Amino acid sequence: MCGDFRIENAGEHASINGWVQKSRRFGSIIFVDVRDKTGIVQVVFDESGDAEVFALAESLRSEYVVGITGHVREREAKNPDLPSGDVEILATELTVYSKAQTPPIYVKDDDNVDENLRLKYRYLDLRKAHMQRNLTFRHKLAKLTRDYFDETGFTEIETPILVKPTPEGARDYLVPSRVNKGGFYALPQSPQIYKQLLMASGCDRYIQIAKCFRDEDLRADRQPEFTQIDMEMSFVDVDDVIAVQEGYLTRVMDELMDIKLETPFARLTYKEAMERFGSDKPDTRFGYELVDISSLVKDSEFPVFSGAIAAGGSVRGINIKAGSDSFSRKNLDKLIDKAKVFGAKGVAWLRVNADGFGSSFAKFYDEDGLRTLADAFGGEAGDLILIASDKDKIVFDTLGFLRCEIAKQLDIIDKNAFNFLWVVNFPLFEKDDETGDLKAMHHPFTMPNPDEIVLLDSEPERVNAQAYDIVLNGCEIGGGSIRIHDTDLQNQMFGALGLSESEIEAKFGFLLEAFKYGVPPHGGLAYGLDRLVMLLLGEESIRETIAFPKNQAAEDPVSDAPGEATTEQLDELHIELKNDELMMGCNV
Ligand code: AMO
Repeated sequence: MCGDFRIENAGEHASINGWVQKSRRFGSIIFVDVRDKTGIVQVVFDESGDAEVFALAESLRSEYVVGITGHVREREAKNPDLPSGDVEILATELTVYSKAQTPPIYVKDDDNVDENLRLKYRYLDLRKAHMQRNLTFRHKLAKLTRDYFDETGFTEIETPILVKPTPEGARDYLVPSRVNKGGFYALPQSPQIYKQLLMASGCDRYIQIAKCFRDEDLRADRQPEFTQIDMEMSFVDVDDVIAVQEGYLTRVMDELMDIKLETPFARLTYKEAMERFGSDKPDTRFGYELVDISSLVKDSEFPVFSGAIAAGGSVRGINIKAGSDSFSRKNLDKLIDKAKVFGAKGVAWLRVNADGFGSSFAKFYDEDGLRTLADAFGGEAGDLILIASDKDKIVFDTLGFLRCEIAKQLDIIDKNAFNFLWVVNFPLFEKDDETGDLKAMHHPFTMPNPDEIVLLDSEPERVNAQAYDIVLNGCEIGGGSIRIHDTDLQNQMFGALGLSESEIEAKFGFLLEAFKYGVPPHGGLAYGLDRLVMLLLGEESIRETIAFPKNQAAEDPVSDAPGEATTEQLDELHIELKNDELMMGCNV
């Protein structure tokens, strides 16, 4: 392959195939860089050689696909930037397999072209070295995953793609059934129910690299169609599942990243994670930990502080060590404005100066009062303290965001650090932001902590779950739980979620039925494969790890999917579109 040539190959006969990266003529010599997925090698055509070959070489343009035969020789002017840069191929034969028009994007990693154009011409974009590296790395990770889990007693089993609409929180992609008039399948949001059925089927340890589909708003770390490394194990507790994952992740880091990880990984309870980092997926590569000053300011003259506490909230802050000079008043205002999307009306600040304090709430505090507050944060000259006061959720979200945003802006994050961390003991339920109803924080099959089951009917919000998330550098790369394997408890859980008996029967009757015939205690976890690859490769978006991702509008820019259905197709599916204009579009 083009990228494989080294000085040891000098003197050998060579035959390569690839794309013309660039071609340039110097007098009687034509230099052509030929590229394949492994890299680039320089090919030389000499006018003193075969005249026909030279004439054909003169016609070469970028992205022509060629086959070349020749001899490898040491280069006079070596190129240290190219792995094959010690040698070149003196061509004796040339075949042009296909010509290429001028490409709309350059096949060059440092080409700062708009992402929409990259996605539209993805087949050109994927020719780039860095995209080839990403695809190869993803393949290697998938292979290692299969090897590791195979060696650890897991069996890969495929679960269906056409399933019953699922209960996992996000919106389903629906597929109309032609045969069953008016019936719809959903594409799976995850193989959750089937993997639990596999445990009831005696499969003991299941793994699948599974495509999942969720019709949710897109972000840099979310795609409507993504891949999970999904697994389930029988007769296990939380520690058993975690031990298998730590074995897997240490092997991934060792073999693919050449990094040795210590086990066990750090574990934080959900409560600790929120109280220390304002997030259930904390980035622990830097400090700026939250400090609760509620008891210190509960009787404060500053109504924003005392009012928040009186209303059942809290007052917490972070100390940006030596950060005061980095944030002018204007920059600070900008930062605080950004944080307001989390619901805070404002963020109070306190600058610790060599000769006193600067503060947004100075008129409510004398010098001693400000000193006491600063001391609570270990404040020293040059520090900037940011304080949020509101409902706990708003306080955590605001400070959780600010600590990460500031660390990014001040560029203090060690890009080579890989901080794996478990967050455990999540609440079983959370309140839906819009409706205020209780919903399962993970999913309704999650096992409550045994000693808290008694609270399920009376105080469900106090019940915690045997659930765990694996977090890497502030991103949730996977999550799972021990599941409920008792039909009565599962029914109780559905009841706590407000499902009526008929709804339970209609949605989950088949699972409960299966559990009647002997089901082992079981638990598992699923990683987001795309996210894991993104983080390990230091990419900013999972789109960089997927060959043909959807764009921000959930479209495939290469094929223009989604497309329109013909009237005949819709008729067969017994579907009528509501909007007349959409109906006209159907005749395409
Ligand atoms: P969960 O919903 O937490 O759990 O998903 C597991 C992991 O999948 C990844 N992920 C995504 N990646 C890209 N785009 C998306 N839209 C997307 N949504 C989720 C995340 C996440 O941590 N059935 C349970 C797992 C279990 O309990 O075993 C589940 O799906 O990295």
